Amino acid sequence: MLIKRVLQNANIATSLPTGDYHAPFQYFPLHDIVIEGAYIKAVLPHQPASAYNCETEDLQGALITAGLIDCHTHLIFAGNRAHEWERRQQGIPYSQIAKEGGGINQTVKATRQASMEELASLAQPRLQRLIQEGVTTIECKTGYGLNLEDERKQLLVADQLAQHYPIEIIKTLLSAHTIPSEFKNNPDGYVDLICQKIIPTLWQEKAFSAIDIFCETVGFSIAQSTKILQTAKALGIPIKGHTEQLSNLGGSALIASFNGLSVDHIEYLDEQGIQAIKQSNTTAVLLPFAYYFLREKQCPPIDLLRQYQVPIAISTDFNPGTAPFTSIHWAMNMACVQFGLTIEEAWAGVTWNAAKALGLTHSHGCIAPGYLADLLVWDAERPVDIIYEVGSNPLVQRIFRGKNTL
Ligand code: NIG
Ligand code: FE
Repeated sequence: MLIKRVLQNANIATSLPTGDYHAPFQYFPLHDIVIEGAYIKAVLPHQPASAYNCETEDLQGALITAGLIDCHTHLIFAGNRAHEWERRQQGIPYSQIAKEGGGINQTVKATRQASMEELASLAQPRLQRLIQEGVTTIECKTGYGLNLEDERKQLLVADQLAQHYPIEIIKTLLSAHTIPSEFKNNPDGYVDLICQKIIPTLWQEKAFSAIDIFCETVGFSIAQSTKILQTAKALGIPIKGHTEQLSNLGGSALIASFNGLSVDHIEYLDEQGIQAIKQSNTTAVLLPFAYYFLREKQCPPIDLLRQYQVPIAISTDFNPGTAPFTSIHWAMNMACVQFGLTIEEAWAGVTWNAAKALGLTHSHGCIAPGYLADLLVWDAERPVDIIYEVGSNPLVQRIFRGKNTL
């Protein structure tokens, strides 16, 4: 028997489940949300409690939003790269550190040495911080294993975490993150390993739901990326990409040619690339922490993304090298201040549009009948209040799949 409950007198702020990813937020003052099991059954103008034959709770006009979706993270890894940051602050660029075998490969070394228990206990506090801010769905990438066993290890840790915490974890295979040191002199050999072994084996094990590639001068070339994407396409695997972060290589247009779910970073994306992702209905994911922490100078092309009505999402990109920050509220604030997003664009960017970046718009990202009851009750009047005073965190109730978890 499904448990039914009603949240009464909520001030709802949400996107609506239309195909429009630039529509303004909708506000439904003093409405009731009927929840049945894990889903929203109805959203109605306020009725007296006697109209419902079940448990009701009066929110007395509190603001309620959909659960937050952090659609791009590298949550699971060992070690840290504080020493690398020290070097960057001395003026040595990220790309040079990567070329010298530092960067991602440092984290790969530590992650390979770590047990599943160690990786889980390192990831737990990071995950808890995001949960406390109201994240109810998080995407987690591999990419610090870079061989079959260690990529699988990261995915299994993600499964363990999902069993212990009230959060949904969407797993993405990012074996094409960098060339591991053992393939330094044979990068195409590593591309073959990804295509012939890592992707098919882990896909068959149903261990992940999309693949990602780092298409960049310090990552994978267009030719290498194409090979990996063809492998994924042949197996019917959804595709995402880290593209146009440090240069304009054409990675976003490549992802678009495979009908990718999202292109992420995109500081160097040009109008041609935007036309390509518009055509393929691909979401542009902004990662303001990486931009900030690498002290990048070129902003993503926000005005053009708006002009072409490309869906825009925002994520923490939490990772040890370019974004060691577990605050989605702060990421939203930064996307507004650094990139000039409106407050409503920032909110859509971590709810409805983030659902789009993960291919989940049938079930996630808004408050509407038939959608998951992942809901947040705030001690705030308006959505702006939540991201204006960063660190205040006015979350008072976190509902995951219909149940209170805070
Ligand atoms: O999204 N760009 C590549 N991947 C990460 C960085 C990962 C790392 O440096 O460990 C990113 O910024
Ligand atoms: Fe990333």
